Amino acid sequence: MRTEPGLKQKRHTDRLQSKFGWDCTMPSSKRFRAAVQEAAAVLRGGGLVAFPTETVYGLGADAENPAAVARIFAAKDRPADHPLIIHMARTDPLGRWSRDIPPAAFVLARRYWPGPLTLILRRACHVSDTVTGGQDTVGLRVPDHPLALALLEAFGGGIAAPSANRFGQVSPTTAAHVREELGDAMDLLLNGGPCRVGIESTILDLSGYGPRLLRPGAIALDELEAVLEQPIASPGSNAPRAPGMLRAHYAPKTPLYVVPTLHLAAKIYRHLRQGQNIAVLAMPTTLLPESCPRHPMPTHPAGWARELYAQLRALDKQGLDAILIEKPPTGADWQAVNDRLGRASSAHRVPGEDASAVSDTSFFDLSVP
Ligand code: TXA
Ligand code: MG
Repeated sequence: MRTEPGLKQKRHTDRLQSKFGWDCTMPSSKRFRAAVQEAAAVLRGGGLVAFPTETVYGLGADAENPAAVARIFAAKDRPADHPLIIHMARTDPLGRWSRDIPPAAFVLARRYWPGPLTLILRRACHVSDTVTGGQDTVGLRVPDHPLALALLEAFGGGIAAPSANRFGQVSPTTAAHVREELGDAMDLLLNGGPCRVGIESTILDLSGYGPRLLRPGAIALDELEAVLEQPIASPGSNAPRAPGMLRAHYAPKTPLYVVPTLHLAAKIYRHLRQGQNIAVLAMPTTLLPESCPRHPMPTHPAGWARELYAQLRALDKQGLDAILIEKPPTGADWQAVNDRLGRASSAHRVPGEDASAVSDTSFFDLSVP
């Protein structure tokens, strides 16, 4: 079992990178199959593989190799008590990783897996503390991406994987983002193209008395309530157990403001009058001052989610004074987008305002930083 990537592994990785050109987006190709086999071998050897999922890219290790899992925490600078999701193959039974499984878990797994839903269940005894951060529960999901599914099948075990970014930063939605952010901290990077969903999975805690939403995502709360035929408690009812629920998370370095449509033009003028360089993410139909650089966002929540992190990363590199984002509509479909925006902009919000309340507060900050 290896704790540090040795020179041999490094040479092996370099060879893989040139052999596969980092790109294996065609599931039927020989290169795809060979890349999957090599990636599975890296995992078996205790290495780290960055791989695409339908939500964001993950940084994976063998879930049953604590030394390999520990390398993920080091690569990300992630506190050790923040648990990781175990990614399972389609055919893996829930009972392999969890126990005392409530019927709701089977209902949701059948309905949504593979897909962007993570279930928190009581962990099976053998699941390592390194993965669960010492908690008695474990996060499980089957990702819906051909490359991730092929890798899980070839590997035959669970892959513990957080998003492939440094702790607190915006999650990567392309292989280029991963490379930029983590450099050669991983042994192999599989390029499966841009992620279809673009924000992290919905997390539902089924380990307690009733179901509890820990992180909103592409699968909306009201949809889950309809499937389960019962209400689901929302975040905020307990201390944050998921770092994704921390107030400031997913944050770009550039000050970011979420501004209601009504106040957007005034806010833009204030920044421009101060000679500031700004960028504005807004719906294509919103009227803006002509001199201001507009980045049109899709009108649909799924499109918004898909583009959000890539836009934030690109703008963050431009050395801007501020990024202004037109506040998206409220409503269940927009909950996940509003949640991520709330966290990304939390450092620049009126003191005392709740990060999770961006979706239903009319926040407007007129103070230019
Ligand atoms: O879409 C996703 O979920 C992506 C892809 C790669 O699968 N993964 C991801 O992982 O976003 P990460 O580690 O960046 O966020 C997972 C969240 C964390 O906030 C973590 O604390 C929470 O899931 N989590 C994992 N296991 C948990 C547990 N046993 N109890 C409570 N929260 C848990
Ligand atoms: Mg993350």
